[in-house]
Amino acid sequence: MPRTLHDPTCRLASADVKRVYIQNFGCQMNDYDTSRMYELLGEAGYAAVDNAEEADLVVLNSCAIREKSEHKLVSEAGRYRELKHGRPNLVLAVGGCVAQQEGDRLLQRAPMIDFAFGPDMIPQLPELVRRHETGERFAATDVIEVEDYQFLSARPRPGDVQVTALVTIQKGCDNYCAYCIVPATRGKEVSRPGAEVVAEVERFVSLGAREVTLVGQNVNSYHGLGSPDGDDFAELLRRVAAVPGLVRLRYTTSHPKDFTLAVARAHRDLPTLSRWVHLPVQAGSSRTLRRMVREYTREEYLGKVDALRALVPDISLSTDIIVGYPGETDADFAETISLLERVEYDFIYSFEYSPRPDTPALKLRLRDDVPADTKRARLVELQRVQAAISRRRLGRWVSRTTPVLVEGRATRSVDELCGRTTGNEMVNFPLPVGVDAATVIGQLVDVRITAAGRHTLLGELASSSADLAALPPRPSVRRLAVLR
Ligand code: 5AD
Ligand code: SF4
Repeated sequence: MPRTLHDPTCRLASADVKRVYIQNFGCQMNDYDTSRMYELLGEAGYAAVDNAEEADLVVLNSCAIREKSEHKLVSEAGRYRELKHGRPNLVLAVGGCVAQQEGDRLLQRAPMIDFAFGPDMIPQLPELVRRHETGERFAATDVIEVEDYQFLSARPRPGDVQVTALVTIQKGCDNYCAYCIVPATRGKEVSRPGAEVVAEVERFVSLGAREVTLVGQNVNSYHGLGSPDGDDFAELLRRVAAVPGLVRLRYTTSHPKDFTLAVARAHRDLPTLSRWVHLPVQAGSSRTLRRMVREYTREEYLGKVDALRALVPDISLSTDIIVGYPGETDADFAETISLLERVEYDFIYSFEYSPRPDTPALKLRLRDDVPADTKRARLVELQRVQAAISRRRLGRWVSRTTPVLVEGRATRSVDELCGRTTGNEMVNFPLPVGVDAATVIGQLVDVRITAAGRHTLLGELASSSADLAALPPRPSVRRLAVLR
């Protein structure tokens, strides 16, 4: 069923309203970009639909981080060949990092793609659609100069805002991590002015968001404020945390070399700032870290973790790990395992190294020399070790009563609600008889944790009916499903 973005509850979009479907891949930057594309196209008269079959315009918002991502994108685009056959007016566009990286090559490889556009071209998307209406196939991959770059403000409409919202604070990255394609596809780092960030958070909160996640490739090097002590990110956290009505603040993703004590103190001092930090380490051996050009050693990383834990003992930590990086020996890998055991992360994301185009590793001629089966075996071992640690960490919540920000109904049962602890642990709990879900969704309620599963916690509502009755009402949200 199509919905115009101007009126999300509209049930009968007229037959001549055009419809758009965006398939999103990849990171939270892409999530944020996808929402902005929906808004821009909504203002241009497009209605959002939930599947490609109903759409006149399909956008694949691509990600370039994973192995063979170009290949996977082309085969995904191939799935639209038949659909286009039956509906010759269907337009297929590709955005995101693969579009930026491959440009015209993508159009040559995949004749079903009508146009490609890079992340900096998103504000022009409605014009690009019109340009294609003349029949032209093209790749729009201009990169906007740092000094000219303008952040696209979110313009959420009442009814479109969920309990949790993303707010971008930065684009691009100035680091030189040898495995990483992001600086090549997203360009130089630009910080969004602090006043714009705060205004966007206020806008989301006034429309019903209760939690905001600030997103950027390396939020710790944010420099959009010019604060006197030079730690702009810690200052930004303070300013955003002061927005009335904001219940919880998160951010992602960090670079350990730029993670400061001031930010660690913010986790201790700001009640709304989550007790969770995603601090990607990538490897546990200083030798590998040097070859990755991460600019910190194992000891420096552990020093920061220890300082953070000393200030906020209960903090939850997560990380990213790459196994099988060029030149990684069994001894290097053993150091990654010992680092997991030493830090005790709550959860990890783990990857096998794969060479990506236009990365420093290729320019440094680092040979992808760890055999595929060794990479696989290391990944399996890493995940085995972490599974036991995660189970132990999740278990520490059992029997505790903790505040949970309720995000919506649980996917596994409509009679259950789901939300997160301040440590980012997902909690499912049954909706008590006589309690209306709408009064609880978007609220911070007390939940007594009764059991820990493999990845989630189970609990029961511990807030009394008097507590629930006293909760401040949330602006009415007409539609709780995510518009994508
Ligand atoms: N190979 C494997 N993993 C990678 N990542 C980034 N580039 C590569 C690559 N070439 C992982 C890193 C990063 C996460 C988003 O993806 O761990 O933190
Ligand atoms: Fe990539 Fe490193 Fe920048 Fe993260 S900090 S986006 S890993 S270059």
